[in-house]
Amino acid sequence: MASTITLNVNGVNRSVTINDTNMPLLWVLRDLLGLTGTKYGCGIEVCGACTVLIDNQREHACVFNVSSAVGKKIVTIEGLSADPDGQKAQKAWIDNQVPQCGYCQPGMLMACTGSMKAGHHGSEIASDMTHLCACGTYQRIRTAIKVL
Ligand code: FES
Ligand code: FES
Repeated sequence: MASTITLNVNGVNRSVTINDTNMPLLWVLRDLLGLTGTKYGCGIEVCGACTVLIDNQREHACVFNVSSAVGKKIVTIEGLSADPDGQKAQKAWIDNQVPQCGYCQPGMLMACTGSMKAGHHGSEIASDMTHLCACGTYQRIRTAIKVL
């Protein structure tokens, strides 16, 4: 049965009607709210392409039940520039020209920002970054993270 829920996404309350309360958050963000910056890669919590922040914690939207996101603050790559930590990460990425094709990079930036919010710096952030990048930008990511 369809139900309408309200999600706080990037500081804005968004109402959305879903047919399945067990729907992964990723598909609500992408297909129902039009926030396509969050990517699908594996769907099984391996690649990290779908990473978002929920109450400042890194989460894999591909397996995060949308019902569990109600009442929490969701930040996607579209809202990252409003976050001071996100701004620092974005600047480091630009300074080091990190992306190649770019597909994995929203998840990388969200994971990096989440690690910063956990109080991590430099090599600690690098240890948290277990995401996959088909283009092999790992070295530039490590260089960018050094200043954070
Ligand atoms: S799509 Fe979620 S971890 Fe790969
Ligand atoms: S930049 Fe292409 S997959 Fe990472």
